[in-house]
Amino acid sequence: MKSSEIRALFSVVSRPEVVSLAGGMPAVSALPLDIVGSMIGDLVSGMGAQTLQYGSGQGDPRLRERICDVMALEGIADASPSEVVVTVGSQQGLDLVTRVFVDPGDVILAEAPSYVGALGVFQAAQARVRHVAMDDEGLVPEALEQALIEARAAGDRVKFLYTVPNFHNPAGVTLSEPRREAVMALAERYDLLIIEDNPYGLLGFEHGPMRALRARNEDRVIYLGSFSKTFSPGLRVGWVLAPLAVREKLVLATEAQVLCPPSLTQYAVARYLDTQPWQEQIKVFTELYRERRDATLESLTALMPPGTTWTRPDGGFYVWLKLPHGLDAKLMQPRAVAAHVAYVPGIGFYADGQGREYMRLSYCYPEPDQIREGVRRLARVIEAELDLHSTFDAVDTGTFRAVRSSVPAPSPADQGGAAAESLTGPANRNENEDHRA
Ligand SMILES: Cc1ncc(COP(=O)(O)O)c(C=O)c1O
Repeated sequence: MKSSEIRALFSVVSRPEVVSLAGGMPAVSALPLDIVGSMIGDLVSGMGAQTLQYGSGQGDPRLRERICDVMALEGIADASPSEVVVTVGSQQGLDLVTRVFVDPGDVILAEAPSYVGALGVFQAAQARVRHVAMDDEGLVPEALEQALIEARAAGDRVKFLYTVPNFHNPAGVTLSEPRREAVMALAERYDLLIIEDNPYGLLGFEHGPMRALRARNEDRVIYLGSFSKTFSPGLRVGWVLAPLAVREKLVLATEAQVLCPPSLTQYAVARYLDTQPWQEQIKVFTELYRERRDATLESLTALMPPGTTWTRPDGGFYVWLKLPHGLDAKLMQPRAVAAHVAYVPGIGFYADGQGREYMRLSYCYPEPDQIREGVRRLARVIEAELDLHSTFDAVDTGTFRAVRSSVPAPSPADQGGAAAESLTGPANRNENEDHRA
């Protein structure tokens, strides 16, 4: 196991003067906190013995029913509560599925780039991750087929394809409808299992939810869901929807790990779904994220130097930015932090060391004004980096890297940081900010 790129940023980006475009923290302050608070208080006083007691390893039956209603919004009409396993966030779901299926040396296919938390799980299981190319329409089916053919030729066991079809973390793109069909056809042809990880599917800005892969084939797809982005990540409630034979194994694995998911938070989510206008609340979240996405894209268009490109998400939390030729997001990071802006270098989203020219920007947490200021600072950092690069001739990357690391990072004042301090006051501060997401 090794610590992720995001984890390494933790201490730096929680400083108040830093605009963090790094963490994927949902904007939970947009929840009606007083209502949620009294709802949880009523739960304990009303049904305390149950809420504070151990529960079933598979999870609360009422919650599993309500989870089926949530999945119906994405076209999964036939799911039964008996096929649902409640987990401690979808992160635990990922871990359970990997424990059940993967032996050391097995091959897992995963998008290039992939969610860093999934790569950590796969690495701990000693799997070999093979990346499959993506473009603006998500995973490229031809690349998937090529990877399957090559694995077969090499005698490798491909245990599954791991994919985030909606508002991808970190790439921000969504798998198009024709590609969904193409991917499912390949799964059938090559006897492939798919892990569909879908925490962001209900957070679309332009249209309703897309039909899940699981809705197209119930035998080949294991679906992971989460309430972290649609309600609260702190409650740590997610789920796995799997065919019955797999579900049994998942319950055994979760019992070995945690005995049962926490009762209180499961009851809290079930009560929230039963009594609160949760679909309206999701609209509140998406409006807020849409505004922040717009602030990000407008500032990038206005400020980024030529040669910089980025994706245009129509939902979710993330923009994936490619630096001008020759620049390295990881090497540039100290300069960015000195200029009081943080991002996640792309290298953390690949299992094989690719991605140096990329970075992930998250717009979910900072206010629009902070985002604009953060992008302004970042644009200056990239410009300064480009100047340095052209001075030392892009061709000689070795010299550039050596010189680059000996140049002191500019002070925040050089970067316009002093003038911007007022924009990054307490609202951008969160001492508990954790950037694992
Ligand atoms: C793609 C993806 N999968 C899984 C998770 C884990 O979410 P949680 O464990 O909070 O449900 C995240 C969190 O950011 C994510 O982005």
